[in-house]
Amino acid sequence: MKLLLISGSLRADSYNTALLRNVEEEAVLWDELKELPHYSEEEDVEPAPSAVERIRAAVRDADAVLFSTPEYNGSVPGALKDAVDWLSRPRGAAPLLNKPVAVVGASMSMFGAVWAQADLRRILKTAGARVIETELPVAKAHEVFEDGRLLDAELHARLQAIVDELLNIVVADEVAA
Ligand code: FNR
Repeated sequence: MKLLLISGSLRADSYNTALLRNVEEEAVLWDELKELPHYSEEEDVEPAPSAVERIRAAVRDADAVLFSTPEYNGSVPGALKDAVDWLSRPRGAAPLLNKPVAVVGASMSMFGAVWAQADLRRILKTAGARVIETELPVAKAHEVFEDGRLLDAELHARLQAIVDELLNIVVADEVAA
């Protein structure tokens, strides 16, 4: 399975990026979110800005995408929302259309970015993706990593289970094709 990982944080020491680095499946971590411009219909023409072309190609090429989102004021960070907006066009041929996707999230609060995860799932569904409902709230993120490694075995197992859920969808699609 070609798995693409997209972190919604621009921070070098991001807990969400760290969470994705704990995925054991072979995967590509998208690290160009900072390069993406804000979504603009006027710029959404052929050719789109180069960073947009690159993330669209990466998502098209992937069998599945796993997002990890921080929570900013109870929702998804603006940069990540822009990415979803770019990936939701062109209508009818959007990179996210029918793409199996899952959402996890980490925050330093005791809730683990659950609001942001719920919002991101809703946004991704609106964009036409096939969204797994299973969530992974990583709470108190500043306490659960050591040198980037997820210390909690249960959280680690739940992260792999979400990846397996994506894998099962991709395999089932291949069998059905
Ligand atoms: C936050 N943070 C935060 N946390 C949370 O659980 N709920 C929230 O609504 C917010 N709101 C919020 C707004 C802004 C502007 C900032 C900068 C931060 C804390 C946030 O979850 C924490 O900084 C995470 O560590 C960010 O994720 P990364 O960058 O570590 O991946």
